[in-house]
Amino acid sequence: MKGIIVAITIVAFAGTAFAADVMQFKRGVKFNHKIHQDSLKDCTKCHAKPEGGKIEGFGKEFAHKTCKGCHAEMKKGPNACKDCHKQQ
Ligand code: HEC
Ligand code: HEC
Ligand code: HEC
Repeated sequence: MKGIIVAITIVAFAGTAFAADVMQFKRGVKFNHKIHQDSLKDCTKCHAKPEGGKIEGFGKEFAHKTCKGCHAEMKKGPNACKDCHKQQ
């Protein structure tokens, strides 16, 4: 009985910090969260807080500023429309 309660507690906590390794956004943008976490290390490159979470106002404006901005600066990652947007 005790074991079951412990297991449920762990699942509940894990749930609050869960992020998919690969996320699918509008217009066919496939975002590999895992690659970005591993290669950038610093969560606050994209998130307001080091523990991450939903990004307030996520959408075109955030993406084109933050995603494209960093790719241009680091000279890594796609910057052409069709390299991120696999669908129109
Ligand atoms: C290159 C940008 C980037 C980096 C770096 C990054 N993330 Fe994210 N993360 C995202 C995006 C984009 C989302 C989806 C945001 C949304 O839908 O509001 C996300 C979502 C998440 C979510 C899920 C939010 C939810 O409830 O759906 C968690 C948790 C998270 N990130 C944690 C982290 C942690 C911890 C790190 C550092 C180890 C990290 N992220 C690094 C871009 C990034
Ligand atoms: C702070 C810098 C930074 C930010 C912000 C960032 N990226 Fe990247 N991105 C990179 C780097 C560095 C690579 C090359 C990673 C590698 O190959 O190790 C990359 C690679 C990629 C790739 C090609 C690799 C793959 O996943 O197949 C895609 C697509 C991509 N990024 C999409 C995005 C999107 C969409 C966002 C915004 C939600 C974003 N990136 C935000 C630095 C960034
Ligand atoms: C680094 C990847 C990346 C590049 C390069 C990029 N975009 Fe985006 N774009 C995104 C992401 C991520 C979103 C937000 C998707 C979402 O809200 O689910 C987005 C959103 C959009 C939207 C709004 C979609 C909607 O239905 O809300 C349009 C339109 C768009 N992009 C056009 C373009 C055009 C045109 C270019 C080239 C000049 C371009 N994008 C380059 C990643 C990129």
